Amino acid sequence: PQPLIIAVDGHSSCGKSTVAKDIARELNIVYVDTGAMYRAITLFAIRNGMIDSNGINEPQLEEALPNIHITFNFSPATKQNITFLNGINIEDDIRGLEVSQNVSAVSAIGFVRRHLVTLQRQMAQNTGLVMDGRDIGTVVFPMAQLKIFMTASPEIRAKRRYDELTAKGEKVDFNDILQNVVQRDHLDSTRAESPLKQAVDALTLDNSYLSRQEQLDWIMTQLKNKN
Ligand code: C5P
Repeated sequence: PQPLIIAVDGHSSCGKSTVAKDIARELNIVYVDTGAMYRAITLFAIRNGMIDSNGINEPQLEEALPNIHITFNFSPATKQNITFLNGINIEDDIRGLEVSQNVSAVSAIGFVRRHLVTLQRQMAQNTGLVMDGRDIGTVVFPMAQLKIFMTASPEIRAKRRYDELTAKGEKVDFNDILQNVVQRDHLDSTRAESPLKQAVDALTLDNSYLSRQEQLDWIMTQLKNKN
């Protein structure tokens, strides 16, 4: 039988990765955070001076793609997947505001998407997985057995991201974050290359007022109903 593939798509900062990690633990399958992959390429571009006020130096970035190696490593200490760029832990660096402010522009580039979609499909060759992102149910795995489309109000999403960053000791302004959340939704939904949109066969999960456990229970029920 085909390995189980669960696609979790939706708006920015609505807790897709939390839900996807919970599903992975419950079903003992692999979790892949595709946003981290777009963020890693963005960090690489920033660090190598490929992004400035004029925009992104696309030819330079395209040439560098073969030198960008993204890997995930499970940390037993924190029970988290840690993102590595060319062997260096970049997990914290890719969550900051500078990367968040540039990632939608980088992820709108066709060659970046084609490159990452190829890598993402390879990850499912021998294993079941749950993958979160924006185009998993529509582009990466249109045949996924279960597709979830997550959303929540922008204010609730900004509040969650704000709490997450402040807990890490980052000094951030709530309105900057709210603006970033709204702006990323807009850029992600209106770009020409695989824009964020709900797959026709995806189930909507608005988690504005749902606990973590309630979300997991709901998804497990949907999965049982599919079988
Ligand atoms: O999921 P996360 O918020 O970390 O994703 C960061 C950004 O990466 C998104 O705002 C979007 O621009 C881009 N992205 C994407 N396609 C995916 C995952 C993320 O375009 N599958």
